[in-house]
This record gives sequence, C-alpha cells and structure tokens, in this order.
Amino acid sequence: MSYEKAVEAAEFIRSKYSKPIGTAIVLGSGLGAFADDLENAVSIPYELIPHFARSTVEGHAGQLVLGEINGIPIAVQQGRFHYYEGYEMEQVMFPMRAFGRLGIENVILTNAAGSLNTDMRPGSLMLITDHLNCMGVNPLRGKNDDRFGPRFPDMTAVYDKELQEIVVKEADTISRERLANATDKEAADFLHRGVYCALSGPTYETPAEIHLYRLLGADAVGMSTVPEAIAARHQGMKVLGISCITNFGAGMTREAINHAEVMETGARVAEVFKELLRRVIGRVGH
Ligand code: HPA
Repeated sequence: MSYEKAVEAAEFIRSKYSKPIGTAIVLGSGLGAFADDLENAVSIPYELIPHFARSTVEGHAGQLVLGEINGIPIAVQQGRFHYYEGYEMEQVMFPMRAFGRLGIENVILTNAAGSLNTDMRPGSLMLITDHLNCMGVNPLRGKNDDRFGPRFPDMTAVYDKELQEIVVKEADTISRERLANATDKEAADFLHRGVYCALSGPTYETPAEIHLYRLLGADAVGMSTVPEAIAARHQGMKVLGISCITNFGAGMTREAINHAEVMETGARVAEVFKELLRRVIGRVGH
C-alpha cells in the first residue's frame, strides 16, 4: 500500500509544480531559511500532501517548497518528521518515498548536531561520511516492497563519494574567499568530516552516553537523518549529509544543552550554509 501512497503523493506534488526536479533537500533545525531563497517558488503545507504527516517541532515550518536556485528546480523540505515526535518510521521516511516516485536522484539531508570532537566547534559544519544507527529501530523493518528496493539493502557507501567531493571543493572555495576577506582563520576552517550517530531523542544525551558514542566512533550526535538516508539508499538515490554543529555533546563543557541554543547556532551559520548549498546545487542540480 505504501508504494501506491508514494505514487499518489508524487502525483499531487507534480500537479502543483511541473518542472523536472533532480535534487531534494531536507532542512534541519534552525536551517529552514534556505527555502526562502528559492525563486518562482510554490509552497505546499505538509497537511495538504496526501499521506504526509504534520511537523510539530519548533523551528520547522512544515512545508514542501518547490522552486529554483540559479534556474535549477529543486524540492525543499522545510521541516521534517522526527521519530521522537511520535511518528512511525513509515511517516518519517515517507517524503523520501514520494521523492523517489517524483524521479528525484539526489537527496541532501541536513540537520543540527552535537559535536563529540573538541576541535569541531559549534558554528562549523560536518560533512557526514558514514553513520551509526543508534535509534533502536530500522525504518525498513516490516514487509519489503521490491518496487522501492531490495530486502537487504547494501549500506557500504550510504553517503555518495562524488557528492562529498563536490562539497569539499565548494567549501574550499568559500574558505579561500573568506581568508582573502578576513583575518579570522576560524571563519575559514568551517567544514569537518565525520560519522553521524542518530539517536531517538527527545532527551539530549547524558555525559556517560556521550562518552560511549565517542568510543563507538561517532563524531556528532543528532535525532534525525539516518531514517531518511536509509530509505533514500533503499531506493537507489544518492545521499549527501551535512550537519550544522550547534553545541558540544553533554558533559564536554560546563554548560547544559538547550533547544534555543541549537536554533541560535543554526541561524548563525545560515549564511555560509546557504552559500554552500547554493554552490553544491549548481554542481549537481542539472
Ligand atoms: N544531541 C542530540 N541531538 C542534537 C544535539 C545534541 O547534542 N544538538 C543538536 N541536536
């Protein structure tokens, strides 16, 4: 049934926006402003799209925005469905199912995340090279529909190497421009790479848990992205993941973690984040 639902959602989206779309972007907490930059945009609240759930968390607008960046049509999810909100995994990954039926080939997943590395500071970005699924569930559990993809999908290379290279190159260009214009070396060194560990939330971690995830090989922790990445790979789409580092993991500083800080840091990096996305779309969008 879910395949037919995905087809129905895709047909509805297509009826509102007919240009062919190659790339979809999911905007994480505090990063929603990018959607405001789309030209000739059409916004569809999630509740109008057949079988989409609604987004409830603060900082997520809850709409699909279709429009162009430098003439390249893209789909932008302004707000996503989190497992901690109480949605079933099927609902969390449903937009990926619809994107697949729309013929979208590249999915850019973004999120806010806590850093587990002392040299990866809040306000920087982390290119996701791999993930640890510590959510306690797999979104593909249950009967497999072969029309989406295979029963046992390979996860050797979830995050596309070529897309990663494009990000590194474009970030490098931005860094060089920043260095030329400013003496602030920190402002130039904004892109890190690492392993993203997904947790179910909604609590932030304890210091003991942060210690554990560091030992497991995680560089950042968050509460999203992995279900969508798995669903997108299941369907053969290329995945790119970028984390906005909003805070250090619990216990790494004297401060407590709060959602307001996460949102503020997201807003602080919005400019470099938007510029990077714009450049990356320019390279992959066609
Ligand atoms: N932990 C989990 N999720 C997060 C964090 C964190 O420290 N920061 C932003 N999202």
